[in-house]
Amino acid sequence: MNALPVSADPAAPLALVCPECRAPLQSTAGGGLRCSACGADFPARAAVPVLLSESAWRECRAHLDAEAAARDAYARARRAAPLTLRYFDWWVGRMLDEIPPAFGGAFVELMCGGAEVCRRLPARFTAALALDLDVDMVEQAARDLAGDGRIAFVCGTAARVPLPDACTSVVVVQGALHHARPVLAEVLAEIHRILKPGGVLVGSEPANDHPLTRAIREWEYRRSTLHGNDPEEEGFDRAELGALLGGAGLRLDRYRQFGFIAYPLMGNTDLVPLLRATRSRALGTALLALDQLLERLPGIRGLAWASLFRAFK
Ligand SMILES: C[S@@+](CC[C@H](N)C(=O)[O-])C[C@H]1O[C@@H](n2cnc3c(N)ncnc32)[C@H](O)[C@@H]1O
Ligand SMILES: [Zn+2]
Repeated sequence: MNALPVSADPAAPLALVCPECRAPLQSTAGGGLRCSACGADFPARAAVPVLLSESAWRECRAHLDAEAAARDAYARARRAAPLTLRYFDWWVGRMLDEIPPAFGGAFVELMCGGAEVCRRLPARFTAALALDLDVDMVEQAARDLAGDGRIAFVCGTAARVPLPDACTSVVVVQGALHHARPVLAEVLAEIHRILKPGGVLVGSEPANDHPLTRAIREWEYRRSTLHGNDPEEEGFDRAELGALLGGAGLRLDRYRQFGFIAYPLMGNTDLVPLLRATRSRALGTALLALDQLLERLPGIRGLAWASLFRAFK
């Protein structure tokens, strides 16, 4: 049994620290931030703090500009297609259900992209940080959620999270650990560092548990414009994920597979363009019900596209 972490002071926002040395950051006259200890300088570059070194920032900006069209299509589909919004309501809801109900206070969404989880943040979380390398997506999420004073948005890397040790009971990562394979050990070490003892990581990743699903996914990634044709996309199977998390001191407590028909059709409406504008609630309800039925069938379950997991520190 895990000890229940003590919830954060409801009034306390998450204090940003220097991603290099973790000392407090101070505001500069130019609207940027500077580290009081190591002198690292983070000039104002965007509508959100950019806590990256000069070279990391340049590299990021160049990468974003090179993929602007694919990223724009991806972001727009997420916010515009009614079936996709419905799917994310359902998917994020399932992730949030993995957080023990007694956990509240601070909340951290890493590699947040458009901050789908923070967009649906339950009231018991009183302070949140949403962080991603993609400054354009973070800026957009910050604009969309400007009315929710609980959430701070930062452009930075999950391999150097600008938060103090043991500052949160909950870290959530949706569909993104597999994008950070080259720095995954650092990312998991950071998640372990910022979690309080007994805290939980909730994640969802492409499931690689069945050779057939793996083969179809490779084909789909090549075809789908919304994924930006990333040839390095590769999910995890249960054993690999458990070993990676365990190596970082995070004990895999639950691993479920989900997502069959609704996952590709509602989550990626570019596969069937007609679905992009479909407003039918009945169709969404039927697809979600079908997926939940398939999830319960032994023999079929293992063919699911995605995993939903939680791990405790
Ligand atoms: C497939 S997207 C998922 C985004 C979001 N969690 C969602 O479900 O919509 C993967 C995200 O990981 C981000 N990312 C990749 N490497 C990162 C890193 N080292 N630090 C922070 N974000 C990173 C990318 O910018 C991208 O937004
Ligand atoms: Zn510093």
